[in-house]
Amino acid sequence: MDKYEKVFELAKRRGFLWNSFELYGGSRGFYDYGPLGSTLKRRIEQIWREFYVIQEGHMEIECPTIGIEDVFVASGHVGGFSDPLCECKKCGEAFRADHLVENVMNAAGTLSAEQLTQVIKEKGITCPECGGEFNDAYEFNLMFKTTIGPGTGRQGYLRPETAQGMFVDFQRLSRFYRDKLPFGAVQIGKSYRNEIAPRQGVIRLREFTQAECEIFVDPRNKKHPNFERFADRELSLYSQEAQQKGEPFRITVREAVEKGIIAHEVLGYNIALTNEFLTKVGIDPARLRFRQHLKDEMAHYAIDCWDAEIETERFGWVEIVGIADRTDYDLKAHAKVSKTELYVYVEYEEPKMVTRFVVKPNMGKLGPLFKGKAKAVADALKQLSEAELSLSKDQIKVTVDGEELTVSSDVVDFAEETVKVSGENVIPHVIEPSYGIDRIFYGVMEHAFDEENVAQKAAESGLKGAGEAEETENEPEAAKGEGEGEEEARLVMHFSSAVAPVQVAVLPLLTRKELADPAKEIIAKLREKSLLVNYDDSGTIGRRYRRNDEIGTPYSVTVDYDTLEDGTVTIRDRDAMRQVRAPIDGIENVLYELIYRGRDFESAGKPFNF
Ligand code: GLY
Repeated sequence: MDKYEKVFELAKRRGFLWNSFELYGGSRGFYDYGPLGSTLKRRIEQIWREFYVIQEGHMEIECPTIGIEDVFVASGHVGGFSDPLCECKKCGEAFRADHLVENVMNAAGTLSAEQLTQVIKEKGITCPECGGEFNDAYEFNLMFKTTIGPGTGRQGYLRPETAQGMFVDFQRLSRFYRDKLPFGAVQIGKSYRNEIAPRQGVIRLREFTQAECEIFVDPRNKKHPNFERFADRELSLYSQEAQQKGEPFRITVREAVEKGIIAHEVLGYNIALTNEFLTKVGIDPARLRFRQHLKDEMAHYAIDCWDAEIETERFGWVEIVGIADRTDYDLKAHAKVSKTELYVYVEYEEPKMVTRFVVKPNMGKLGPLFKGKAKAVADALKQLSEAELSLSKDQIKVTVDGEELTVSSDVVDFAEETVKVSGENVIPHVIEPSYGIDRIFYGVMEHAFDEENVAQKAAESGLKGAGEAEETENEPEAAKGEGEGEEEARLVMHFSSAVAPVQVAVLPLLTRKELADPAKEIIAKLREKSLLVNYDDSGTIGRRYRRNDEIGTPYSVTVDYDTLEDGTVTIRDRDAMRQVRAPIDGIENVLYELIYRGRDFESAGKPFNF
């Protein structure tokens, strides 16, 4: 079994991830999050909210997951959101044509469907399933289509990204933020892509959760007001140039921006913020890097994009976050299709005197010529820029209600005037950190996963004998039994307390009432503190510790017969497998301190003033 299989086996067995529709044989590209998986995922999302909504102040909105066609025509998804598809003539299996070609040449992703068909024919690539020949490759749109309303209804699509909601709501958002740039908004929710052949488990899903933030900035000022916060943070970058040499490098955010490796401060700040978030939820910093998109892989809307990539054993480096400068592409596209100008009026610090070229239509001449449309023609003439007018001074073209009209220049006077201007209309640029939550979830699972040799671990951490197993006269009851009759290997998820789906396991040594009652009282106290608690009284204590190691419970509290005598319990630390005795009185505060305030474990057994 490779690591992916091991993680998945544990994930299924312990209630993190299940194949969707298993009862009916399943369907590729869909997974259910079980009770622990849902909790872990929600906790990751909640930390994301703390970062982006609470700390950065980008408020959360919630838009429908179904969108009307105009939205995706404007966004470019109807026209161009596709992957090249190839089907086997013999068994009908579908494949990404670029993935088939990837094995025989570099940059397969940049080839058109026709070019891919040619390579498949020339190289004699056949179906990996049955050896059959392939049909010609063609572009397959990845959006799920649906119908809105009964009968033939109205064409709709399941959204392929949450981002469009923020663009479509731009005017409302701008007003909400009192038209002051920069401002941002986020969504966490499901998106859908009808992937051609999702064979990579949770890495490629047809229904997935995105956490996306769209930050609208003044294009003339891409400095970040809080840049210093991360300026000296070192990141592992894999720039376009570094990719030619195959060598990522470490550099501070400040130096990367100063040298122009990262285009500007807003992008630099957001890359660093992503680094901070990912390490907080449990991505191993040694298996995390930021890779810049190559020019030919950049999305149609982006001028610069950096992917946070994590190293996985089976899939190599996997993209889990994209941080892009989308420029004004989206707002311009929606302005065009919706025929609504989308901009922010930005006031100058001081009004400016501006000399400008003006057009003065002669209504006396325009009236007889254009009758009822004369006013509209006059307004359209006033809107023309100097450049547009100088292109065709004799015959001026204007568009009125979609109709192109020609106006002779002798019905127009031209002049220059100096006016006081106090601001200008600006179409903001969008900086977008876009997170794939399911991939992050898998990354957190794989990076937390460990198979440890208990005896070796015990020797390293100075525990006696086979770790927590040995019995001595003075030792508390709870310390007895771990490892007894258990295998030497333990599977452990080293989740941080910030995301662990269970933070404390409460274990009565035996199922007897005199031990169960104090255990339940402890649970009530811990829940008062909003800690996530699991009561477990089945099996030997060693087995229960192992079970909690597998689900990544950072601390276990064991109630034994000494508890009845001296009012103390054992707290066990998952990672070092150490144990301390602590009074029940105040145990909820001790655990809260251990979990949220980084209190040193050894001190948990000592008296502590709150
Ligand atoms: N919004 C970026 C993406 O979905 O890839």
